[in-house]
Amino acid sequence: MNGGVSEATWARYFDGDVVSLYVSPRHLRAHYTYIVDALQPLLPSNRSFTLLDFGCGEALATPRLAETAARLLLYDGSPVIRDRVHSRFGGLAGISVLDDDDYAALPDGSVDLVLVISVIQYVNDHDLKRMLADWRRLLAPDGALILGDVLPPGNTTFADISSLLRFALKNGFLWAALRGLATTAATDYPKLRRTLGLRSYDEAEMLARLRDAGFTASVAPRNVSPSPHRRTFIATPR
Ligand SMILES: C[S@@+](CC[C@H](N)C(=O)[O-])C[C@H]1O[C@@H](n2cnc3c(N)ncnc32)[C@H](O)[C@@H]1O
Repeated sequence: MNGGVSEATWARYFDGDVVSLYVSPRHLRAHYTYIVDALQPLLPSNRSFTLLDFGCGEALATPRLAETAARLLLYDGSPVIRDRVHSRFGGLAGISVLDDDDYAALPDGSVDLVLVISVIQYVNDHDLKRMLADWRRLLAPDGALILGDVLPPGNTTFADISSLLRFALKNGFLWAALRGLATTAATDYPKLRRTLGLRSYDEAEMLARLRDAGFTASVAPRNVSPSPHRRTFIATPR
Protein backbone atom coordinates (compact mmCIF):
# COMPACT_ATOMS: atom_id res chain seq x y z
CA MET A 1 0.00 0.00 0.00
CA ASN A 2 1.37 3.41 -0.92
CA GLY A 3 0.95 6.58 1.10
CA GLY A 4 0.46 7.48 4.71
CA VAL A 5 3.47 5.64 6.08
CA SER A 6 4.49 7.23 9.36
CA GLU A 7 8.22 6.82 9.64
CA ALA A 8 8.12 7.69 13.32
CA THR A 9 5.89 4.73 14.11
CA TRP A 10 7.89 2.27 12.06
CA ALA A 11 10.99 3.72 13.71
CA ARG A 12 9.52 2.92 17.14
CA TYR A 13 8.86 -0.61 15.92
CA PHE A 14 12.52 -1.04 14.91
CA ASP A 15 13.59 0.16 18.33
CA GLY A 16 11.67 -2.77 19.78
CA ASP A 17 12.00 -6.48 19.12
CA VAL A 18 12.59 -6.47 15.37
CA VAL A 19 14.46 -9.74 15.70
CA SER A 20 11.05 -11.43 15.76
CA LEU A 21 10.90 -10.73 12.00
CA TYR A 22 13.80 -13.15 11.81
CA VAL A 23 12.48 -16.37 13.22
CA SER A 24 15.72 -17.81 14.57
CA PRO A 25 19.49 -17.20 14.65
CA ARG A 26 19.73 -19.66 11.75
CA HIS A 27 17.28 -17.53 9.74
CA LEU A 28 19.33 -14.39 10.44
CA ARG A 29 22.55 -16.14 9.35
CA ALA A 30 20.94 -17.58 6.18
CA HIS A 31 19.40 -14.17 5.36
CA TYR A 32 22.73 -12.35 5.48
CA THR A 33 24.63 -15.18 3.76
CA TYR A 34 22.15 -14.95 0.89
CA ILE A 35 22.59 -11.17 0.66
CA VAL A 36 26.36 -11.21 0.74
CA ASP A 37 26.50 -13.99 -1.91
CA ALA A 38 24.12 -12.04 -4.15
CA LEU A 39 26.19 -8.88 -3.70
CA GLN A 40 29.49 -10.44 -4.78
CA PRO A 41 29.12 -9.74 -8.54
CA LEU A 42 28.12 -6.15 -7.75
CA LEU A 43 31.16 -5.29 -5.60
CA PRO A 44 34.11 -3.48 -7.22
CA SER A 45 36.79 -6.16 -7.72
CA ASN A 46 39.62 -4.00 -9.04
CA ARG A 47 40.11 -1.44 -6.25
CA SER A 48 39.69 -0.82 -2.57
CA PHE A 49 36.39 0.83 -1.77
CA THR A 50 34.30 2.41 0.96
CA LEU A 51 30.86 0.91 1.48
CA LEU A 52 28.00 2.55 3.38
CA ASP A 53 25.38 0.06 4.60
CA PHE A 54 22.38 2.34 5.22
CA GLY A 55 19.64 0.81 7.40
CA CYS A 56 22.08 -2.00 8.12
CA GLY A 57 19.84 -3.79 10.66
CA GLU A 58 21.66 -6.63 12.42
CA ALA A 59 24.43 -6.28 9.79
CA LEU A 60 25.58 -9.88 9.91
CA ALA A 61 27.01 -9.50 6.38
CA THR A 62 29.69 -7.23 7.86
CA PRO A 63 32.55 -9.73 8.35
CA ARG A 64 32.36 -10.95 4.74
CA LEU A 65 31.88 -7.47 3.31
CA ALA A 66 34.89 -6.34 5.35
CA GLU A 67 37.04 -8.92 3.52
CA THR A 68 36.69 -6.88 0.31
CA ALA A 69 35.81 -3.34 1.40
CA ALA A 70 38.66 -1.14 2.65
CA ARG A 71 36.20 0.76 4.83
CA LEU A 72 32.73 -0.23 5.98
CA LEU A 73 30.33 2.39 7.35
CA LEU A 74 27.29 0.99 9.14
CA TYR A 75 24.34 3.26 9.78
CA ASP A 76 20.86 2.50 11.07
CA GLY A 77 18.14 4.94 12.11
CA SER A 78 17.40 2.91 15.24
CA PRO A 79 19.67 3.74 18.21
CA VAL A 80 18.85 0.33 19.73
CA ILE A 81 20.03 -1.52 16.62
CA ARG A 82 23.07 0.77 16.33
CA ASP A 83 24.14 -0.10 19.88
CA ARG A 84 23.82 -3.80 19.15
CA VAL A 85 25.80 -3.49 15.90
CA HIS A 86 28.39 -1.38 17.70
CA SER A 87 28.96 -3.99 20.37
CA ARG A 88 29.21 -6.67 17.69
CA PHE A 89 31.52 -4.95 15.17
CA GLY A 90 32.43 -1.49 16.52
CA GLY A 91 35.98 -2.38 17.58
CA LEU A 92 37.03 -4.04 14.32
CA ALA A 93 39.55 -2.42 11.98
CA GLY A 94 38.01 -0.64 8.99
CA ILE A 95 34.47 -0.77 10.42
CA SER A 96 32.67 2.31 11.76
CA VAL A 97 29.19 2.33 13.26
CA LEU A 98 27.77 5.80 12.59
CA ASP A 99 25.32 7.71 14.72
CA ASP A 100 23.07 10.42 13.23
CA ASP A 101 25.73 13.14 13.55
CA ASP A 102 28.47 10.95 12.05
CA TYR A 103 26.17 10.13 9.14
CA ALA A 104 25.28 13.79 8.55
CA ALA A 105 28.99 14.73 8.62
CA LEU A 106 30.11 12.31 5.87
CA PRO A 107 31.92 14.33 3.18
CA ASP A 108 30.57 14.60 -0.36
CA GLY A 109 31.94 11.95 -2.72
CA SER A 110 33.42 9.90 0.13
CA VAL A 111 31.55 6.62 -0.51
CA ASP A 112 31.99 4.18 -3.40
CA LEU A 113 29.02 1.96 -2.73
CA VAL A 114 25.79 2.75 -0.88
CA LEU A 115 23.82 -0.32 0.11
CA VAL A 116 20.16 0.16 1.06
CA ILE A 117 18.39 -3.15 1.48
CA SER A 118 14.82 -3.55 2.70
CA VAL A 119 14.56 0.00 4.01
CA ILE A 120 12.59 2.30 1.72
CA GLN A 121 9.28 0.52 2.28
CA TYR A 122 9.29 2.22 5.71
CA VAL A 123 10.12 5.68 4.37
CA ASN A 124 7.66 8.38 3.32
CA ASP A 125 7.86 10.29 0.08
CA HIS A 126 9.47 13.41 1.43
CA ASP A 127 12.18 11.47 3.27
CA LEU A 128 12.90 9.21 0.31
CA LYS A 129 13.64 12.31 -1.82
CA ARG A 130 15.97 13.63 0.88
CA MET A 131 17.71 10.26 1.21
CA LEU A 132 18.22 9.87 -2.53
CA ALA A 133 19.76 13.35 -2.61
CA ASP A 134 22.04 12.43 0.34
CA TRP A 135 23.20 9.19 -1.32
CA ARG A 136 23.82 11.01 -4.61
CA ARG A 137 25.90 13.62 -2.76
CA LEU A 138 27.88 11.02 -0.80
CA LEU A 139 28.76 8.90 -3.81
CA ALA A 140 32.05 9.25 -5.66
CA PRO A 141 31.57 9.97 -9.39
CA ASP A 142 32.25 6.31 -10.28
CA GLY A 143 30.29 4.96 -7.29
CA ALA A 144 26.98 3.09 -7.19
CA LEU A 145 23.81 2.83 -5.14
CA ILE A 146 22.29 -0.62 -4.65
CA LEU A 147 18.66 -0.30 -3.62
CA GLY A 148 17.53 -3.79 -2.73
CA ASP A 149 14.35 -5.57 -1.67
CA VAL A 150 12.04 -2.88 -3.06
CA LEU A 151 8.42 -3.96 -2.78
CA PRO A 152 6.42 -4.09 -6.02
CA PRO A 153 2.82 -2.78 -5.99
CA GLY A 154 0.48 -5.46 -4.69
CA ASN A 155 3.21 -7.05 -2.54
CA THR A 156 1.04 -9.01 -0.14
CA THR A 157 1.72 -10.52 3.26
CA PHE A 158 0.89 -13.83 1.59
CA ALA A 159 3.73 -13.36 -0.95
CA ASP A 160 6.16 -12.55 1.87
CA ILE A 161 5.05 -15.56 3.94
CA SER A 162 5.36 -17.95 0.96
CA SER A 163 8.80 -16.60 0.22
CA LEU A 164 9.85 -17.01 3.87
CA LEU A 165 8.57 -20.60 3.97
CA ARG A 166 10.40 -21.54 0.75
CA PHE A 167 13.59 -19.97 2.10
CA ALA A 168 13.09 -21.75 5.44
CA LEU A 169 12.57 -25.13 3.75
CA LYS A 170 15.74 -24.69 1.73
CA ASN A 171 17.78 -23.60 4.74
CA GLY A 172 16.52 -26.06 7.34
CA PHE A 173 14.45 -23.81 9.61
CA LEU A 174 10.89 -24.60 8.51
CA TRP A 175 9.58 -25.37 12.02
CA ALA A 176 11.20 -22.25 13.40
CA ALA A 177 9.59 -20.28 10.55
CA LEU A 178 6.14 -21.64 11.38
CA ARG A 179 6.65 -20.86 15.08
CA GLY A 180 8.09 -17.44 14.16
CA LEU A 181 5.08 -16.57 12.01
CA ALA A 182 2.83 -17.31 14.99
CA THR A 183 5.04 -15.14 17.21
CA THR A 184 5.11 -12.27 14.70
CA ALA A 185 1.32 -12.47 14.40
CA ALA A 186 1.15 -11.58 18.09
CA THR A 187 3.41 -8.50 17.75
CA ASP A 188 2.53 -5.01 16.46
CA TYR A 189 3.88 -5.89 13.01
CA PRO A 190 0.66 -7.15 11.34
CA LYS A 191 -1.28 -4.22 12.77
CA LEU A 192 1.32 -1.68 11.62
CA ARG A 193 1.44 -3.29 8.21
CA ARG A 194 -2.37 -3.11 7.98
CA THR A 195 -2.73 0.42 9.26
CA LEU A 196 0.44 2.18 8.09
CA GLY A 197 1.21 0.03 5.10
CA LEU A 198 4.54 -0.41 3.40
CA ARG A 199 5.53 1.71 0.44
CA SER A 200 5.82 -0.05 -2.88
CA TYR A 201 7.10 1.05 -6.28
CA ASP A 202 6.73 -0.30 -9.77
CA GLU A 203 9.89 -0.43 -11.84
CA ALA A 204 9.06 2.60 -14.00
CA GLU A 205 8.27 4.76 -10.97
CA MET A 206 11.45 3.87 -9.13
CA LEU A 207 13.60 4.36 -12.24
CA ALA A 208 12.00 7.80 -12.71
CA ARG A 209 12.66 8.74 -9.07
CA LEU A 210 16.28 7.69 -9.38
CA ARG A 211 16.62 9.65 -12.62
CA ASP A 212 15.11 12.75 -10.96
CA ALA A 213 17.63 12.38 -8.13
CA GLY A 214 20.55 12.49 -10.58
CA PHE A 215 21.17 8.80 -11.21
CA THR A 216 21.25 6.52 -14.22
CA ALA A 217 19.52 3.34 -13.05
CA SER A 218 18.54 -0.15 -14.07
CA VAL A 219 16.75 -3.14 -12.55
CA ALA A 220 19.09 -5.93 -11.44
CA PRO A 221 18.43 -9.41 -12.88
CA ARG A 222 17.52 -10.65 -9.39
CA ASN A 223 16.80 -9.27 -5.96
CA VAL A 224 19.82 -9.28 -3.62
CA SER A 225 17.61 -10.33 -0.67
CA PRO A 226 15.88 -13.71 -0.37
CA SER A 227 12.45 -12.54 -1.59
CA PRO A 228 12.41 -13.16 -5.36
CA HIS A 229 9.18 -11.20 -5.87
CA ARG A 230 10.91 -7.97 -4.76
CA ARG A 231 13.31 -5.89 -6.85
CA THR A 232 16.85 -4.52 -6.71
CA PHE A 233 17.81 -1.30 -8.52
CA ILE A 234 21.37 -0.32 -9.38
CA ALA A 235 22.01 3.37 -9.81
CA THR A 236 25.13 5.32 -10.73
CA PRO A 237 25.64 9.10 -10.56
CA ARG A 238 24.81 10.81 -13.86
C1 LIG B 1 13.98 -4.82 7.52
S1 LIG B 1 15.40 -4.08 8.23
C2 LIG B 1 16.62 -4.38 6.98
C3 LIG B 1 18.00 -4.53 7.55
C4 LIG B 1 19.10 -4.90 6.54
N1 LIG B 1 19.34 -3.84 5.60
C5 LIG B 1 18.73 -6.18 5.81
O1 LIG B 1 18.55 -6.17 4.61
O2 LIG B 1 18.63 -7.21 6.47
C6 LIG B 1 15.09 -2.35 8.02
C7 LIG B 1 16.12 -1.48 8.75
O3 LIG B 1 16.02 -0.16 8.24
C8 LIG B 1 16.15 0.75 9.32
N2 LIG B 1 15.45 1.98 8.92
C9 LIG B 1 14.14 2.15 8.64
N3 LIG B 1 13.87 3.43 8.31
C10 LIG B 1 15.08 4.07 8.36
C11 LIG B 1 15.48 5.42 8.14
N4 LIG B 1 14.58 6.35 7.79
N5 LIG B 1 16.77 5.75 8.31
C12 LIG B 1 17.69 4.81 8.66
N6 LIG B 1 17.36 3.51 8.91
C13 LIG B 1 16.08 3.15 8.76
C14 LIG B 1 15.46 0.06 10.48
O4 LIG B 1 15.87 0.57 11.73
C15 LIG B 1 15.88 -1.40 10.25
O5 LIG B 1 17.06 -1.74 10.92
